[in-house]
Amino acid sequence: MAQQHYRITLLPGDGIGPEIMAVAVDVLKVIGAQFDLSFEFTEALIGGEAIDATGEPLPTDTLEKCRHSDAVLLAAIGGYQWDNLPRHQRPETGLLGLRAGLGLFANLRPATILPQLIDASTLKREVVDGVDIMVVRELTGGVYFGQPKGIFTTETGEKRGVNTMAYTEAEIDRIGRVAFETARKRQGKLCSVDKANVLEVSQLWRDRITQLATEYPDVELSHLYVDNAAMQLVRAPKQFDTIVTGNLFGDVLSDAAAMLTGSIGMLPSASLGEKGPGVFEPVHGSAPDIAGQNKANPLAQVLSTAMMLRYGLNQPTAADQIEQAVFKVLEKGNRTGDIMSAGMTLVGCQEMGNALIEILKQP
Ligand code: IPM
Ligand code: MG
Repeated sequence: MAQQHYRITLLPGDGIGPEIMAVAVDVLKVIGAQFDLSFEFTEALIGGEAIDATGEPLPTDTLEKCRHSDAVLLAAIGGYQWDNLPRHQRPETGLLGLRAGLGLFANLRPATILPQLIDASTLKREVVDGVDIMVVRELTGGVYFGQPKGIFTTETGEKRGVNTMAYTEAEIDRIGRVAFETARKRQGKLCSVDKANVLEVSQLWRDRITQLATEYPDVELSHLYVDNAAMQLVRAPKQFDTIVTGNLFGDVLSDAAAMLTGSIGMLPSASLGEKGPGVFEPVHGSAPDIAGQNKANPLAQVLSTAMMLRYGLNQPTAADQIEQAVFKVLEKGNRTGDIMSAGMTLVGCQEMGNALIEILKQP
């Protein structure tokens, strides 16, 4: 078979971003050699580093490079020094612009408990043992993007902040389809989360998802209000298989689901559009407090690389190989600070990377 060639745009970003990205690139190089895949890496600026270099969190050149690649691997953005800039210059605005610019409406955030890390969870072992949840979050609509938005001045001279939570039928249907298809490939259970008891936008959401379900008779659909869903996630998370929800509820619930697994430092994500390159990034942020100290956990970045191979480049065997290496590296007792427990070996970001490479290179 001819060698597959992939153009990958790397966005290391801020904080711990460059350190964890370096590990992911090393892993990809080894995987490339093993599976006869050639990766052409192009780096671009995003977030705070882009603001410092160009004044903008998402330079046009970055978006263009991403558009012309087969997949985008992103590490993390943000840091204290950029927190007080006007909104259009914040690192977060760059990330939202990237999602919107590439049309990445579907965000897949898996939260899976690894047996090796079960004691890292703050919840009881019997509550989290076996948890395997996929949150499908709508990513380019809802209150994050709805119009009107802004801080306006009323007739009395008082300021009034406004955001609008809005979804069209088409927006609900396309994320709904991704969710039903995802559930179908998993345990066949889909829970749609909304606030239909209060919000019109949620009523439409529920109506459309219910309608779509007739096309997926093999998937068992349920609905929960978001407050109840948050409660159920910490009370009895094993009842969930696939969750589908809007942008803001998905933001909140995916952090809660992540923490069931013990450390947000372990969780990857994939952001996908109708066509074109996806963006693959850890769920965690840039952790400026430990940046540059070789303390970061690179495993979420490495697992995001596996998601890139699986969902973005259709190389599932290579993805499996990376995931297996992550299990093995943990089995050997390697732990970064965020997942450290008694009897394990505390390692730095680079050492974790080296241990992974060693495992990957074993026949
Ligand atoms: C996330 C983050 C982002 C979001 C921020 C950084 C804009 O919290 O990816 O979950 O709210 O979507
Ligand atoms: Mg978030």
